[in-house]
Amino acid sequence: MESSTTFNVDHAFDGKQLLLLGSTGFLGKVVLYNLLSLRSSVDIVLMIRHSNRQTATQRFHADILQTPLFSHLKDQLGAAAFNLALSRVKVIAGDITLPKFGLDHLQFTELANDTDLVINSAASVNFQEPLHHALKINTYSIDNILSLCRPRSVPVLHVSTCYVNGYRKGRIKETLDKPRHMDIPQTRYGHYLIDGMLSKMEEIISSVRQAREDNDKAFCQKMTEVGEQVAHQCGFNDSYTLTKWLAEQRLVNRRFGCPVSIVRPSIIESSCAQPFPGWLEGVKVADAVIYAYAKSKLHSFPARKNRTIDIIPVDLVANSCMLAAAELISDSAPSEVNIYQCCSGSRNPLSIQTLKDAVVDVAQHRHHAYTKLFSAAPKNGLRIIPPFLFHTVMSAYRSYVGLAKLFNPERSSKKLNRLKTAEKLVKLFAFYAAPDYRFDNSKLRELHQRVSISDQNRYPVSPDELDWHQYISQVHVPGLNDYALGGAQSNKASVNQAA
Ligand SMILES: NC(=O)c1ccc[n+]([C@@H]2O[C@H](COP(=O)([O-])OP(=O)(O)OC[C@H]3O[C@@H](n4cnc5c(N)ncnc54)[C@H](OP(=O)(O)O)[C@@H]3O)[C@@H](O)[C@H]2O)c1
Repeated sequence: MESSTTFNVDHAFDGKQLLLLGSTGFLGKVVLYNLLSLRSSVDIVLMIRHSNRQTATQRFHADILQTPLFSHLKDQLGAAAFNLALSRVKVIAGDITLPKFGLDHLQFTELANDTDLVINSAASVNFQEPLHHALKINTYSIDNILSLCRPRSVPVLHVSTCYVNGYRKGRIKETLDKPRHMDIPQTRYGHYLIDGMLSKMEEIISSVRQAREDNDKAFCQKMTEVGEQVAHQCGFNDSYTLTKWLAEQRLVNRRFGCPVSIVRPSIIESSCAQPFPGWLEGVKVADAVIYAYAKSKLHSFPARKNRTIDIIPVDLVANSCMLAAAELISDSAPSEVNIYQCCSGSRNPLSIQTLKDAVVDVAQHRHHAYTKLFSAAPKNGLRIIPPFLFHTVMSAYRSYVGLAKLFNPERSSKKLNRLKTAEKLVKLFAFYAAPDYRFDNSKLRELHQRVSISDQNRYPVSPDELDWHQYISQVHVPGLNDYALGGAQSNKASVNQAA
């Protein structure tokens, strides 16, 4: 049943304690930025895993507070209010893959008793993660989260991905569905029973492990291949989307009374407005292709110009998390599992042609302003070629390069490297640029309508009015150069040197 009760975001969070998983990540940081900006007293526990060199607290300072995001927040709030907000943050060391997150019994029980909501933005987003790792981080970690939540029916906001829809086609609604072509038993509530699938995967993993027991590297390499094969057989592009789909099913099947909402972003890219336009971390799906083109390592890509690529700015995803989280802890918490797709495809689709034109526009006219991305103007244009033609040309080109290598090995090895780059990018990302689906976000927009007008303005969720050409050329490409590739830092260093 659809809830129509309205709620206020600040009010919903007031006096609550949240556990945020994945705060060192790209999305997690923007969610934390939003939480620290709330006008309510909310306690935030960040669970961060320690690294070999740094404790969790050291990582909080180095990987979170020292990013431009939080210096910007300090400027916005003023030092006193910023420090007050920070005084409500507690950092604990924990790993989502370990039982009780690796905490001792007392720590775990205290955390379970004090937590009012878990926001899970932690995951491995590596499309080539070996299957056993991807399962551990993305799927089985749900058990550890639920063992914290179940005793007090603590709500969980889980971040998933629109691509759990795998190879499904057409208009994709915000529902829990099975992959295309798979026959999976269902519970009486209509949820899918995945234990059989997981047992088969575990059998495969242990037989590969037995064959390679003394060589961990060979085992992981094999598990990457196996992950890809199993994902394809199950109706997914990669082990990432397969294990994220399994996570959704595990969560809904085992929640036993815990309220659950799932936010599914499409491809998350730089912010369009908050905290400032262009904030971006990491070289994501579309960026890997833009980067290879900018470095003259890619001249063509298989896609159809009039098809869409579903990109969503990170601030709209973080805003969606805020609304879904506020709904979960407000008095109007839904009893059913709510799924919210955070995407652009059905309301304001970005075509491959527009994306390409905007990138080529910057490459041709303003490449010198973004020197981390463009070492020089790319030598060639970027051709979008229909997939069947692309693969035919690639295989002919591979034979040509193989022959040419016999006569001019040095020149041919450069060509071969370019070919390998193109093949790798195509293998990983072509699926995301050749969709047969359109993600629907009606439920997310309904959720947005249920908050006050001031909250609607503060937390936009759907990029309905976004001018994509302007966003890509004037926001995203600069953000890729300045933040993801560190151009802003090197500019600052050269200004400091000059001073
Ligand atoms: N990026 C996208 O385009 C995209 C698109 C759709 C959906 N999503 C979803 O959005 C969420 C956030 O993605 P993102 O782009 O922010 O990813 P990200 O930048 O790679 O961040 C992943 C976060 O998960 C944490 N993590 C991983 N393994 C962990 C473990 N064993 N214990 C504790 N923490 C662990 C990481 O911590 P460390 O710093 O310790 O590694 C990091 O904080 C994920 O659920 C992802 O599936 C992302």
